[in-house]
Amino acid sequence: MDHFQLRAGTLHAEDVPLDTLAAEVGTPAYVYSTATLSRHYGVLREAVDAHPAAFGDALIAFAVKANSNLSVLATLARLGSGADTVSEGEIRRALKAGIPAARIIFSGVGKTDAELAYALDVGVRQINVESPAELDRLIAVAAEKGACPDIAIRVNPKIGAGGHAKITTGGEGDKFGIPADEALALYARAAASPHVTPVGLACHIGSQIIDLTPLEAAFRLLREMTLTLRGQGLSVTRLDLGGGLGVPYSGGAETASVADYAAMAAGVLEGLEVEAAFEPGRLLAANAGVLLARVIQITERADGRRFLVLDAAMNDLVRPAMYDAFHEVKPVTPRDGDLIAYDIVGPVCETGDTFARGRDLPPLQAGDLVVFTGAGAYGAVMSSEYNSRPLVPEVLVDEARWAVVRGRPTYDEMLTRETVAGWL
Ligand code: LLP
Repeated sequence: MDHFQLRAGTLHAEDVPLDTLAAEVGTPAYVYSTATLSRHYGVLREAVDAHPAAFGDALIAFAVKANSNLSVLATLARLGSGADTVSEGEIRRALKAGIPAARIIFSGVGKTDAELAYALDVGVRQINVESPAELDRLIAVAAEKGACPDIAIRVNPKIGAGGHAKITTGGEGDKFGIPADEALALYARAAASPHVTPVGLACHIGSQIIDLTPLEAAFRLLREMTLTLRGQGLSVTRLDLGGGLGVPYSGGAETASVADYAAMAAGVLEGLEVEAAFEPGRLLAANAGVLLARVIQITERADGRRFLVLDAAMNDLVRPAMYDAFHEVKPVTPRDGDLIAYDIVGPVCETGDTFARGRDLPPLQAGDLVVFTGAGAYGAVMSSEYNSRPLVPEVLVDEARWAVVRGRPTYDEMLTRETVAGWL
């Protein structure tokens, strides 16, 4: 459930009409709902807390990559969320938003020595090690600092899942994690080092997973590995179950419920007495955000094709171009009339800049406003200035109040980062 609803014929973000926001902030703009973020966090927290014996003092660590806006992170921080991070930049954002280091997990296949050193300096909760080579580098960095960080070994369970091949991470050929047998050996090697403390195992097999079966298989593998390691006298106190649970992008999509997901995971972890961590990104943020855009014009062809040309483009929301992703498009003030099939496109100069083909919508006119729903995760974070289009602003709504939480850069600001080489 989200808080973008029609009221008196106009789509609102909580109590704020979106046409008002468009007039004040301009378009395109990302708009986030505090109530929706809180609700999604609360639903997951409640589902997890329903299984205290299985999950212990469980950490929910929001995957910052999904939406790294400081106000979104601060909203989640106030609810008690931790952060799953994959770069120094993300750690810095999480800290700045008020997420304590003790709730920050540092993941990623290619952490540099400098990033590892930074993570040790700020004292993150846990570093998820993804390869033997990374363990060696971490040990060297930690030894130099006299540190002994808690680490988890990320397992590649050879189980890939997710909404698209490009967002599947647990498959055998994927770059993420360490195959189970190697991971067991690496865990033992880490335990023998005075410079790291292996505390657990981690996995994350993909994103937009709507069926629990592959997740359950991966969690079972973590369970077996935990028992094997304990059988060798090694301590395993934490299991990081990753993120990946999908969300409905359209009304009809069947996604596993959060309660079923938690119950499944609890069933698998039962009796292990570990502390669980969850790293949801999309689940918390996707349906807490929309991309607000305006119709520039409607281009009609003699063959009857109608292009709805928006002021938002693939550089602002790349998911349809990159993953053939579906985002619902809704008029902010729907007009009466029969549905019309539109090809929904942006102004960027490539055919990939097509959000949808033949999408049936109420009749639209130039100047009308529309939103893309489900744009709160992997939306603004993946945007670029392609075609020299300035990054779009981000707005946070909380009941009747709202704030521009990332401003729209002026053209001058966009250009000022560059210099013309002195010899030109
Ligand atoms: N943990 C790790 C280690 C991850 O790599 C990811 C996402 C997450 C957690 C959060 O996954 P989520 O709960 O959001 O599914 N840009 C793509 C999604 C890429 C996901 C990458 N990893 C998209 O727009 O669909």
